[in-house]
Amino acid sequence: MRLTALVPATAANLGPGFDCFGLALDLCNEVTADTDATGVTWEGEGTDELPTDGSDLVSRSLAETARRFDAQVPSVGLHGVNRIPVERGLGSSAAAVVAGVALANALGEIGLEPTDVLEVAADLDGHPDNAAAAVFGGFTVVLRERLVARFDPDPTLRPVLLVPTDARVSTEEARRILPAIVARADAIANAGHAALTALALLHEPGLLPSAMRDRLHEDARLALVPEVRSTFDALRGNGVAVCVSGSGPTLLAFDDGHAPIPDPGDGWRVLRVGIRSTGVEILAG
Ligand code: HSE
Repeated sequence: MRLTALVPATAANLGPGFDCFGLALDLCNEVTADTDATGVTWEGEGTDELPTDGSDLVSRSLAETARRFDAQVPSVGLHGVNRIPVERGLGSSAAAVVAGVALANALGEIGLEPTDVLEVAADLDGHPDNAAAAVFGGFTVVLRERLVARFDPDPTLRPVLLVPTDARVSTEEARRILPAIVARADAIANAGHAALTALALLHEPGLLPSAMRDRLHEDARLALVPEVRSTFDALRGNGVAVCVSGSGPTLLAFDDGHAPIPDPGDGWRVLRVGIRSTGVEILAG
């Protein structure tokens, strides 16, 4: 038996929706589990740094899901085709965990519903906002692992990912530097901007440049990567809708349909990807 998990990259936060908003992107990793194979192999992003001894996130999540539900999962070899850049704020860890949980669910015929897959994946990965978009696709708002809403964003939205080629940010570090307590004015500003960002994503993309403003995490994170800060400031100064994707350093911007976002030049990869309406899928073969 061969099953392939197709799972999308995700941009968490969308600026002010810190730890709640997620957007699925049409940039997918594929992990094939084959009962006639052994071992773990990778191609694409992160090939040289991902473990092949079974300690990778897909293998661990698969095994842990089988253990939690006491499921009989056949022994499989795994082959991953990775398209999501690693440690760039695009949810590569959540994608790996969601792939592992979904494969265990299918191989072990556990019968998990998508909200169950999200609950297990969010528990293992620690970031429900990425996991929700990876499980459900589209634009997701997650308040607790089991309270999730999924929406179809405005079809005219054109995401542009600006991925620094060298800079990386560890999510752990990017959370550690954030203050535990925030000023009331900042909390109020984020609540308003988050509400407006959701409306803009669904119905009024023209509002995004002014809606997608954050006062809780982006400044601190951009301070970790000054070269990214200057590109961020230049885009925003030109009226572009831009935010830090997840914990960074990738920037997520939106083309407004008139002037395309300029390529920042050396040191950046520019990926124009659609929004993916479906979350993780398990395909036979
Ligand atoms: N919401 C999380 C953060 C996402 O920004 O830290 C991590 O991928």
